[in-house]
Amino acid sequence: MRRPLIAGNWKMNGSKIDAEELLRGVIAGVADMNKVDVAVCPPFPYLYVAEQMLAETAVGWGSQDVSREEGGAFTGQTSAAMLTDFGCRYAIVGHSERRQFNGETDSIVGRKYARAVAEGIIPILCVGETLEERESGKTEEVVGNHIDAVINLSGVEALAHGVVAYEPVWAIGTGVTATPDQAQEVHAFLRARVAAKSREVADQLRILYGGSMKPGNAVDLLAQSDIDGGLIGGAALKAADFVSICQAAQSSV
Ligand code: PGA
Repeated sequence: MRRPLIAGNWKMNGSKIDAEELLRGVIAGVADMNKVDVAVCPPFPYLYVAEQMLAETAVGWGSQDVSREEGGAFTGQTSAAMLTDFGCRYAIVGHSERRQFNGETDSIVGRKYARAVAEGIIPILCVGETLEERESGKTEEVVGNHIDAVINLSGVEALAHGVVAYEPVWAIGTGVTATPDQAQEVHAFLRARVAAKSREVADQLRILYGGSMKPGNAVDLLAQSDIDGGLIGGAALKAADFVSICQAAQSSV
């Protein structure tokens, strides 16, 4: 049985005071949940706040991105080693907003994944198709390429050190969620893709769903056999909603 993970992706939202308030709500809300891993991914400047407030709790924290470089003259970037310095357990890599607005290619994402693993950080690898790609029947090709970027660069074993998040681009921030069947189909495809290289890695790999997951649809999504948690955007900005999704994961076990 895979232990569910619910991770909040705060994106570029909030202030220091908002971050503190949100963290207080999450800490109190999930304190008794022992069957689910919970994590938050605040903007970089607030990782220090997360470290201060979460260190003595079971809630993990992570970044929304990581540099593919080890260190040096890379203005504006943050290395995996710096993230470990702030206690980050996770780093989101290859989010579709970074692919879209920051020109991240599969090969860049593959290198970021490898850097995170090299520093002992669990990368959360985002994969997902656009609406146009779905409508032209390319979903499997696209998400297959996204996951192959890691397998080809680092080997299938690298997936034993990370988490995958299936995030259909058309469902992110739109209020339109993939149906549980639609999501399950892609999750099963991804697991089979990994199983073709290693059944053991595939069986242990946590595949999260992301894209307008909220309290009202979390139970049905998390009931699917290949959905092992969620990467939550909008609903992670309200402690009560995020906690309620964590509760759905806790009850799904
Ligand atoms: P959403 O975002 O929950 O607001 O759709 C999810 C994500 O982009 O990780």
